[in-house]
Amino acid sequence: MQAILFDDVTLVLAGRTVLADVTFAIGDSEFVGVLGPNGAGKTTLMRAVLGLVAPERGRIRVLDRPVAAGNARIGYMPQSRSAVAGLRLSGGDFVAGAAGGHRWGLPVPSAADRQEVQWALAMVGATELAKRPLAQTSGGERQRLLLAQALLGRPRLLLLDEPLISLDPHHQREVVELVRRLQQELGIAVLFSAHEINPLLGVLDRVLYLGNGQAAIGRVDEVITGPVLSRLYGTAIDVVQLNGRIFVMSGDYDMEHDEHRHDHGHA
Ligand SMILES: Nc1ncnc2c1ncn2[C@@H]1O[C@H](COP(=O)(O)OP(=O)(O)O)[C@@H](O)[C@H]1O
Ligand SMILES: [Mg+2]
Repeated sequence: MQAILFDDVTLVLAGRTVLADVTFAIGDSEFVGVLGPNGAGKTTLMRAVLGLVAPERGRIRVLDRPVAAGNARIGYMPQSRSAVAGLRLSGGDFVAGAAGGHRWGLPVPSAADRQEVQWALAMVGATELAKRPLAQTSGGERQRLLLAQALLGRPRLLLLDEPLISLDPHHQREVVELVRRLQQELGIAVLFSAHEINPLLGVLDRVLYLGNGQAAIGRVDEVITGPVLSRLYGTAIDVVQLNGRIFVMSGDYDMEHDEHRHDHGHA
């Protein structure tokens, strides 16, 4: 089975071509990092997999079927989640709010829904922390609850849009390792977008790098190279390896880390 197939896909938003004639396939139990500068189309690509952005040209298949909105076999963690923090709900009630097909307002969740929520919380190791109000959880703990929410309904494909934003390196590592463990235990496909490759090194199976309306997919050593990234950034790129870390440089400008600065406003 294939998790995702893009066959010569062009995505256009408000008259602007975000991806042009992009082709790639992702297997049903692959962990794929989606990389690329701000505006490269990482979020748009995930929305297209969800059936929320229709391709201008080409064909998209998801889990061996034509793409369609409302696919319960996909779990999704969207990029902007800052509103979550203010809620007085417990973490468990927050996760439960998404159970049973978003049946907000139902006074009593069904036993099956409660069981599903408990399963998802246990999968991410959040059974205890789910009892605390959301306001008393850290950024890393909140990511675990959001991940539990994305697991409801036992998806075969997880789309995680920049789950590392605003986390410190220690919590980034925790989230990456948790997602890797879930991906392997459940045998599912994961698309995990990020600004920089380093937190995902040693964990991802392949990388899907976007830029300039194009995409390159392959192992890290195949994609994170001067020639490939020069094409995707549209400028001369050097890839520098230092102490097990990778730096994507344009002259003395660090493309991935300088991108990062734009996100420090996020809560
Ligand atoms: N709703 C929208 N309408 C028009 N253009 C959009 C919309 N959302 C995003 N874009 C544009 O599409 C491009 C891709 O954006 P996005 O997918 O959010 O990139 P990324 O997630 O990689 O930062 C950007 O140029 C962005 O400005
Ligand atoms: Mg995005």
